[in-house]
Amino acid sequence: MRQPLVAGNWKMNGSRASVSELLGGLKSGIGAVNTAEVAVCAPFIYIPDTQMQLDGTAIKWGGQDVSTHESGAYTGEISAQMLTDFACHFVIIGHSERRAYHGESDALVAEKFTAARAAGLVPILCVGETLDERERGVTEQVVARQLDAVIEHCGIDLVGEGVVAYEPVWAIGTGKTASPEQAQEVHAFIRGRLAANSQAVADATRVLYGGSMNPKNAAELMAQPDIDGGLIGGASLKADDFLAVCKAANR
Ligand code: PGA
Repeated sequence: MRQPLVAGNWKMNGSRASVSELLGGLKSGIGAVNTAEVAVCAPFIYIPDTQMQLDGTAIKWGGQDVSTHESGAYTGEISAQMLTDFACHFVIIGHSERRAYHGESDALVAEKFTAARAAGLVPILCVGETLDERERGVTEQVVARQLDAVIEHCGIDLVGEGVVAYEPVWAIGTGKTASPEQAQEVHAFIRGRLAANSQAVADATRVLYGGSMNPKNAAELMAQPDIDGGLIGGASLKADDFLAVCKAANR
């Protein structure tokens, strides 16, 4: 059985003070019995504080992006090795905001996936269609293209060492969630795409849903057979909301 995963994506939010308060809330509320794996992906600069507060707890942490390079003259970049230096477990790769605002191509995303794995990080690969793409009926083509780029570059076995997150762009930060049926349809498609390359990888790989997931809709979404957890933006910034989503993922 796939262990559910709930990962918070804080994006570019918070201050040292608010991060400390949020982590304190998560630590005290997570409880001893949580069958889901739980993680927070912090802005780079708050990762040391996050490590200090979460070390020894059941909550893992990670980054929101990574360089394709190991080191060198790449001003402003953070390498996978630097993330593992602060005991990061996960890293988000190819989030739609990076694709849209930083021009990240499918090829670059695939290179980032490889760099993350090479350093031992577990990449959370984001895929998903825009509203325009959904309305044009090309959701599956878009998701297939994004996924295949990584499978072709890294090989299916390496993809199986990561996590996939389906995040319809039109549902991110908009309060508009994909219905459980809409989400399940694409999740099943993603799993089928993995299965076309390896049934074992398809069976074992976690596919998360992301896009306005919150305490109200989490349980229904996560009850779908191919939804193995969530990548949570807005609702991960409040300890109570994030913990409620984590609870909904327990099996
Ligand atoms: P949201 O963001 O939960 O605020 O919609 C999810 C994400 O972008 O990862």
